[in-house]
Amino acid sequence: MKKIREGKAEVFVPSESLTKKSETFYNPGMEHQRNVTIACLRLAKPKEVLDPLAATGIRGIRILKEVEGVENVVFNDRNPTAVKYIEKNLRLNKIQKRCYEIHGKNANVLFLEDKRYDYVDIDPFGSPVKFFPDVTHALKKDSLLGVTATDSGALAGKFAKACFRRYGVFVGKTDFPKELGVRVLITSILQNLAQHDLTFEPLYSHANHYFRTIGLVKSKPDKNLSKIRMVSYCPKCHSKVIGIESECENCKGKTDVLGPLWTGKIQDKDFCLKLLSKFEFVRKKEIVLCLEEIDFPFYYDLHQIARSLKTSSPKIESVIEDLRKRGFKASRTHLCATGVKTNAGVKWILELLK
Ligand SMILES: C[S@@+](CC[C@H](N)C(=O)[O-])C[C@H]1O[C@@H](n2cnc3c(N)ncnc32)[C@H](O)[C@@H]1O
Ligand SMILES: [Zn+2]
Repeated sequence: MKKIREGKAEVFVPSESLTKKSETFYNPGMEHQRNVTIACLRLAKPKEVLDPLAATGIRGIRILKEVEGVENVVFNDRNPTAVKYIEKNLRLNKIQKRCYEIHGKNANVLFLEDKRYDYVDIDPFGSPVKFFPDVTHALKKDSLLGVTATDSGALAGKFAKACFRRYGVFVGKTDFPKELGVRVLITSILQNLAQHDLTFEPLYSHANHYFRTIGLVKSKPDKNLSKIRMVSYCPKCHSKVIGIESECENCKGKTDVLGPLWTGKIQDKDFCLKLLSKFEFVRKKEIVLCLEEIDFPFYYDLHQIARSLKTSSPKIESVIEDLRKRGFKASRTHLCATGVKTNAGVKWILELLK
């Protein structure tokens, strides 16, 4: 066991938590997404928080220490070793007993109990999908939900069958795997919430070796459903069109029909602006990119397209500038360093890469 510091919390974590399966899990690689969570909660000001897959308790403890106005955090983990870590870490951080509860239940059992929360964080190993139907019972109207998924191969289109099995979404190999994964995750959250007359409005979404979204749970179930659409993707020329088109409008090749997929916003610009102006500890570059990013679904990965054209990729900035000069919207994306978002069709991208 060793002691580490993250944000304002100090916690005991197992020395080799990432390699030994029996031990409790702590991943220093997730610090950034916990930082983003803290910043989002400081803006949203939740009072009652549920950390149902708490492991060492790091996230809930940071919430108690770093988010003003939080009255109570309920910690839960079905692994008894994790529960011991949570108890020890709450003592280490001198958290008053009235501010927390600890449970060792299956998270889905806890969700079905009477209490409802202002914020619930779902952060499992692998896919979060088994928690979606029941978590709806634990969410207040106008609450916040944060979800992490690490089954990246399924979400990003590498394992299409697994994605269909888990999320009910047809995917395939594309040049926008990071955005595909984020959108599959949001689609699944939305569809599960909709069954309970709720909807989800993403505030911030990001992708790394994991996918993560945090957003508002609202009670207007029909509002967002029309933005869940099928998408026609051409594996040959990378054209992407919302709707079902069996033939690519650009190269006349056969398309892959993907979806259903959330095609609405994956972040809220006002919220990102507040994140940027108020918090030093979130990665500024990523938030600046988010702010500049056009709200248009799907990026084109210039490197991948250039590779398939057997040419070298021009500078992203010059492609963006050229597209803008031609009257199109164009920007970078925070999801892919070599990606460009634009409302111009693929034909213009191909033209500029030739
Ligand atoms: C990825 S870790 C959580 C990491 C933690 N949220 C953090 O930020 O460091 C997932 C945890 O969920 C627990 N877990 C998995 N399935 C569960 C379930 N159905 N009910 C309760 N706990 C579960 C595991 O024991 C594990 O400790
Ligand atoms: Zn095509």
